Formats: sequence, C-alpha cells, structure tokens
Amino acid sequence: MNLKDRLIIALDLPTTEDAQRAVDAIGDEGTFYKVGYQLMPIGGLDLARRLSNRGKKVFLDFKFHDIGATVERGVASVAKLGGDFLTVHAEPDVLKGAVEGRGDDARLKILAVTVLTSLDQESLAKMGIDMALPDLVLKRAEFAAEAGADGVVASAKEAAAIKARFGDALKIVTPGVRPAGADANDQKRVVTPADAIAAGADHLVVGRPIIAAKNPQIAARDIQQEIAAAVAN
Ligand code: C5P
Repeated sequence: MNLKDRLIIALDLPTTEDAQRAVDAIGDEGTFYKVGYQLMPIGGLDLARRLSNRGKKVFLDFKFHDIGATVERGVASVAKLGGDFLTVHAEPDVLKGAVEGRGDDARLKILAVTVLTSLDQESLAKMGIDMALPDLVLKRAEFAAEAGADGVVASAKEAAAIKARFGDALKIVTPGVRPAGADANDQKRVVTPADAIAAGADHLVVGRPIIAAKNPQIAARDIQQEIAAAVAN
C-alpha cells in the first residue's frame, strides 16, 4: 500500500466547488478522499469521477442499508463509477448483496460499518440490543468476514480486538482521529494518528483538522508525517 493512502481526507464541505478547492489546496499530500452523501445530490458523483480520473483514490461513504437485492443492484451501479471503498451496514443480507453487486470488480472494496461511534451502550439498549458494544462490533466484523467483505469502519478503541481476531482478512478504517492539541469538534472518543496506527488501523479518516485548517496542505502533511513515523515504529 502507498503510505500516503493510509490517510483518507473527508470532504465534508457544502459544495463540490469547496471540495475541489480543498483538494487543490492539499495537493500531493492528499491521495485518498472520502465523498459522503452531503455532496452526492449536488454533484458529488461527478466530483468522485473527476478525482478518480486524476489518479486519486475515492471512498464513497454511502452506508447502504436495505434488502439484499436492492443493495446488490445499487453496488453494481456504484462499481461502474470507479471508486475504491464503499460503505454498507454490517448485516448479513446487506453484506451478501454488496459483495455480489461488486462482483469481480478488482478495485471496489466493501467496508462494513460495525457500530456507529455516535452510539453507546445506552443507545443500543434503547434499540432493544442488550449485547455489550465491543462484542457487537466483533460480531458484525465477523458478518463482514463471513460475507467476503474487505474491511470494517471501526473506532480505534475497537481496532486492536478486530486486528487480533481477523488479522489482515479485514482492513480497518478508523475515524475520530485528531492530532495532539487539535479541536475534537463533536467527536467523543478521539485518538491521535500515531495511536490509531498502533491500535491496528490501516486507514485513518480525517476531516475538519485538515479541511478547516488555515493551511490544509500543511495540516495534511503533518498528519502524513505522523502516520509515516508510526508505521516505521
Ligand atoms: O471532521 P472529522 O475528522 O470528525 O470527520 C470524520 C469523518 O468520518 C466524517 O465524515 C464522519 O461522518 C465520518 N465518520 C465518523 N464516525 C463514524 C463513521 C464515519 O466520524 N463512526
């Protein structure tokens, strides 16, 4: 893996023009971008295609959750777009549909969202789930592995247990990352890039610390350097 691809920059911006400006400002320090559904209805797909044509990797954060047959057709359409990562929720039928829809596309990797980091044990109880949160994360990671998905989105807190159980069979993509001293914004459990790598994360998703920085290129470069140092350790 290209070392710089370990950093995925979330383009959580109001318009595709803003997103394109951020990509231009970041330059060579950004090789992998996450485009979410905030931008999808307003030109995000063209942006994703453009980034892809310019040699960037693209993470399509759609978080599909539907009956398997519908997910399968949706993912088959997404595969034609030319993305690298696509998220779906970690239910067996959803994952099965996604893996079938991706077919033999060598590029598109299916990532399972295990348990959203905005949920805690209490929120699970409200939804009628009484399993301990870390066990639920592992159970859903198991669904992902069994279905033949490529990886999971999980917090750094859960990364070590997933790595221990599944090794390299599942890529771990981790949001909630903040360089030391940076504003946590609304993220509740943040870790530094170095700690996320040490916990076993393969890719880190970072948004505001880069896209809202005075100089996004320097912010991205600093995180790239921290990742490189952590990987070398
Ligand atoms: O700006 P920030 O670095 O907090 O952005 C993190 C990105 O990762 C956002 O796009 C957010 O939607 C996404 N994400 C997250 N927590 C999850 C799943 C995705 O923060 N559990």
